Amino acid sequence: MDGIDTLKARYLAAISAAYDEASIEEVRLAALGKKGEISLKMRDLGQMDPAQRQVAGAMLNLLKDEIDAALRAKKMALGDAALDERLRAEWLDVTLPARPRPRGTIHPVSQVMEELTAIFADMGFAVAEGPQVESDWYNFDALNIPPEHPARQEHDTFFMHRAPGDTRPPHVLRTHTSPVQIRALMAQGAPIRVIAPGRVYRMDMDQTHTPMFHQVEGLAIDRTISMANLKWVLEEFCRAYFEVDKVELRFRASHFPFTEPSAEVDIRYSNVGGQLRIGEGDNWMEILGSGMVHPKVLKAAGVDPDQWQGFAFGMGIDRIAMLKYGIPDLRAFFEADLRWLRHYGFSALDVPDLAGGLSG
Ligand code: DAH
Repeated sequence: MDGIDTLKARYLAAISAAYDEASIEEVRLAALGKKGEISLKMRDLGQMDPAQRQVAGAMLNLLKDEIDAALRAKKMALGDAALDERLRAEWLDVTLPARPRPRGTIHPVSQVMEELTAIFADMGFAVAEGPQVESDWYNFDALNIPPEHPARQEHDTFFMHRAPGDTRPPHVLRTHTSPVQIRALMAQGAPIRVIAPGRVYRMDMDQTHTPMFHQVEGLAIDRTISMANLKWVLEEFCRAYFEVDKVELRFRASHFPFTEPSAEVDIRYSNVGGQLRIGEGDNWMEILGSGMVHPKVLKAAGVDPDQWQGFAFGMGIDRIAMLKYGIPDLRAFFEADLRWLRHYGFSALDVPDLAGGLSG
């Protein structure tokens, strides 16, 4: 049959010239597709007489198989070539040195949270968390601050909106980390030793106040925990955190609804030409509120106050960060000024731990 050799030569050439999946498919359709040249020729077989058909049919089938095989082989070869090309292009030299310093820095507040977590972990305190949008029960009632209590006004609370017609008391942005005491006690019961660092919110803005700031709550409940334990834990914390041997704390009688008795704690420091030094001098700075957890608070959290007792404290994280790292203005903490962050930020590779030196 005429033309078979020509057809074969033409298609094999086209296959060898194909350079990707799409061009192979084009050749396949042109030859073997429904309306392909070879398929049409096979359809013509029907009009031949039987003797002719036998010869031509065999030749066409052979041609079809050959082209089919050539297409498959080409497809495979192209796949291999593509893989080779990828392997050539996608390489990584794992022996190159790491970059000496990441471009970003760790914010002083994050750094201080890591530091105090390491110190309290060493004393057996786990980290507890609670939501920043809090119900007024956790933020106030459970902490012995009933609706008519003056402390509610003093907290300058941000209230969330309720849907119109919903008369339930609105949720609040938590005004302190103390609600985490309740959540941790309800989840875990006594005995317990936790700290809860995090963001808190109050409607207040001046040189020493920002509407969002950070606190860390501490809570230790067991059978015989006393104010003496509180004093030791706080002194131990300050020694480790400020990295000085001598710290002096002053406990002043105070009042909080959720503790009885209550104490505010000041730390001794000196200020020579704007340089703050902890543990010396004649100045006192208040750093935290504390006390023995009020029986009503234990009861609200489902803990029997006849069986269990312990201390709690709440400390301003931003304040102790400023003290330790000599940062003069609180508001700059939250302005995201890159120059400030580069100056006061910490290396991401310098993870605080007690053995290695807290602040690197
Ligand atoms: N929640 C108090 C505040 O935000 C701080 C505080 C005082 C927390 C005494 C305590 C505490 O756990 O015992 O001002």
